[in-house]
Amino acid sequence: MSTTKAASKSASKSASGAASATARKASSRASAAPKPATNPNKVFAPWDDANAVPIVEFDNVRKVFGDFTAVAGVSLKIYPREFFALLGPSGCGKTTLLRMLAGFETPTSGRILLDGQDISPVPPNKRPVNMMFQSYALFPHLSVRDNIAFGLKRSGRSKSEIDDRTAEMLQLVQMNEYAGRKPHQLSGGQRQRVALARSLAKNPKLLLLDEPLGALDAKLREQTQFELVNIQEKLGTTFIIVTHDQEEAMTVATRIGLMNRGSLMQVATPSEIYENPNSRFVADFIGDVNMIGGTAGKVTKRDGEEYADVKAEGGVTLRARCGGTIRSGEKCWLAIRPEKIAVSKAKPKSAANLVSGKVLDIAYVGNLSTYHVKLADGTLIKAQSANRERIARREITWEDEVWLSWSPDAAIMLSN
Ligand SMILES: Nc1ncnc2c1ncn2[C@@H]1O[C@H](COP(=O)(O)OP(=O)(O)OP(=O)(O)O)[C@@H](O)[C@H]1O
Ligand SMILES: [Mg+2]
Repeated sequence: MSTTKAASKSASKSASGAASATARKASSRASAAPKPATNPNKVFAPWDDANAVPIVEFDNVRKVFGDFTAVAGVSLKIYPREFFALLGPSGCGKTTLLRMLAGFETPTSGRILLDGQDISPVPPNKRPVNMMFQSYALFPHLSVRDNIAFGLKRSGRSKSEIDDRTAEMLQLVQMNEYAGRKPHQLSGGQRQRVALARSLAKNPKLLLLDEPLGALDAKLREQTQFELVNIQEKLGTTFIIVTHDQEEAMTVATRIGLMNRGSLMQVATPSEIYENPNSRFVADFIGDVNMIGGTAGKVTKRDGEEYADVKAEGGVTLRARCGGTIRSGEKCWLAIRPEKIAVSKAKPKSAANLVSGKVLDIAYVGNLSTYHVKLADGTLIKAQSANRERIARREITWEDEVWLSWSPDAAIMLSN
């Protein structure tokens, strides 16, 4: 019984192996993005370029509702052609941040710059920004074609211009054959595509998408994520997407801004945020992680990186790369992803990090097995490995005493 529960739990938490795969996808996507003419080998990473000019800049932006602080001093630069994902738990301020950018909400303090200009005096309908809402807000009495053309008509363009642009948008989202239908005659995914086409019709500089895929089922959601990425790359429009789904953010984004309680906790590429979380909150939010508490021991430097020893609560000494400054004697946590831990019945001859325990549970998720191992001091550790053999022939089973080992580079030491 418990096996099934554990299996579905690790599946729903996206089994960190899957998260790491999407992280790789995302970083290869970043390198496949348009490259500047000056240096054809340079990957798309304007955030690392001191001369790059942001399209959006939040400068210490705060938003207070009554006595509640929804956004607590956010500073963030987003660059042209980015697909930026705002990620975080419900109520952390993601929508509020987007609404201020779109002009539906006024910051209590701080500034928002668009192309270097403070946009506070510019009303929402005059900003080169479009916001696509979760509900899509399509007009029920208008056809797909007229929904897409709606904003264009109001902007006073000629009929032929409107027809051309509408046709182009129908083509972009592959909705030609549905142009005459009304929204209620469409599936959820098709409605989502119409809403996207309508948001892009006026060629905004910036498209804000608030949980755009929330209404879609898992499979359609995944497919639509890739469509969104393709459309974004084709148009070169800057997208800012809000999601609370970490896998979605890993799949589509050039960078992720992870928020909690109105503050940005970390802003980094998907692979960076996965490999180098700056806090326990980030490590835990993105993918699956084991956290082993202890007291920091000696800190040493190797190849420019700092490593710390930690005396874990169970008495064993472990070693990991430092994420930020670690001071000897302070409380810290070693964070290690399940897929980076090797499980074996025989004691490894040499391992910088080695602990032993008993297998409590094994969860099979597709081609991955997650072993839930209880150490002598009661700590539970999850270790994950790819299945090379059929389940019946696997050597490790429930109640087995096993060794868990990992390298110091695979783990990260965090002090907050
Ligand atoms: N108009 C408002 N008046 C009072 N409080 C508000 C208002 N709008 C938002 N809030 C509060 O601000 C906080 C942030 O809300 P926001 O909608 O930005 O969260 P979110 O990160 O988008 O969450 P979710 O993932 O659930 O959509 C919440 O606690 C919310 O209740
Ligand atoms: Mg929201």
